[in-house]
Amino acid sequence: MPGRLADKVALVVGAGSVGEGWGNGKAAAVLFAREGARIFAADINPDAAAETCALIEGEGGDATAHQADATNAASVEALVAACLESYGRIDVLQNNVGGSEPGGPVEMDESVWDANIDFNLKTAFLGLKHVLPIMEGQGAGAIVNVSSVAGLRYFGGRSMVAYQAAKAGLLQLTRVVALEYAAKGIRCNSVVPGLMNTPLVTARITHQIDAGDAEKTIAGRHAACPMGHMGDAWDVAYASLYLASDEAKYVTGTELVVDGGLTVRCG
Ligand SMILES: NC(=O)c1ccc[n+]([C@@H]2O[C@H](COP(=O)([O-])OP(=O)(O)OC[C@H]3O[C@@H](n4cnc5c(N)ncnc54)[C@H](O)[C@@H]3O)[C@@H](O)[C@H]2O)c1
Repeated sequence: MPGRLADKVALVVGAGSVGEGWGNGKAAAVLFAREGARIFAADINPDAAAETCALIEGEGGDATAHQADATNAASVEALVAACLESYGRIDVLQNNVGGSEPGGPVEMDESVWDANIDFNLKTAFLGLKHVLPIMEGQGAGAIVNVSSVAGLRYFGGRSMVAYQAAKAGLLQLTRVVALEYAAKGIRCNSVVPGLMNTPLVTARITHQIDAGDAEKTIAGRHAACPMGHMGDAWDVAYASLYLASDEAKYVTGTELVVDGGLTVRCG
């Protein structure tokens, strides 16, 4: 299939969506397929992965669904082996798994800290651990890690220390891997979403801040953005597509912020 990712195989981890509509990984998987990539769609929820693949196949693309827990080493190892068995190579890895938990260091349980660091940071580490040797063997590859503006700035208000620390850690993990693998033909970059209107907002965030009043959460998030509205999963997907494609062949170790100007504002 022609396109900006023609002849590429893309492994998208967290390729489903936590609710109805478009999450960042689901939109990226579908967009990558529209641009010619064959997609290995991994998700802890097999129905979510299958739904993404059905959308891709419905548009004439090629996709394979796989159930995996990205926090589990054996599961990620098996996932990467299965992708190789299906498609024989991995050109693009998108590490999309993550999400926040509220709380500062005093009120957050140690178990919540551990789980949230695993969710946002270990998932990417395990993906890198098993995919980098394959890309090194190919002499080429592009990795896109999905971080967050929460890893760049603290905007005040509610803290979510594990998420903020993990997403900041993910940015530095990305830079270190980029440099270590720059001469080996592998690029590693972060896409950094701001406030995006994805199903995660109603599935998770509204319960953390507005006792489940999704309308209030969504209105508040729109109002907090300099453009007057949140971004969406396609904004993250298009930024990811650029970083995954050969158009970004001289771009590595960087952060592509997709936040409608949120992090530029002072005060
Ligand atoms: N939505 C936002 O406003 C926003 C802002 C900044 C950053 N992000 C980041 O974007 C990423 C994705 O967000 P989204 O809104 O698309 O979320 P989402 O929850 O809709 O999608 C993530 C997918 O990952 C899957 N998943 C969860 N745990 C997994 C595991 N252990 N192993 C494999 N798959 C697993 C879920 O089933 C889901 O299908 C996250 O890393 C999030 O932190 C989102």
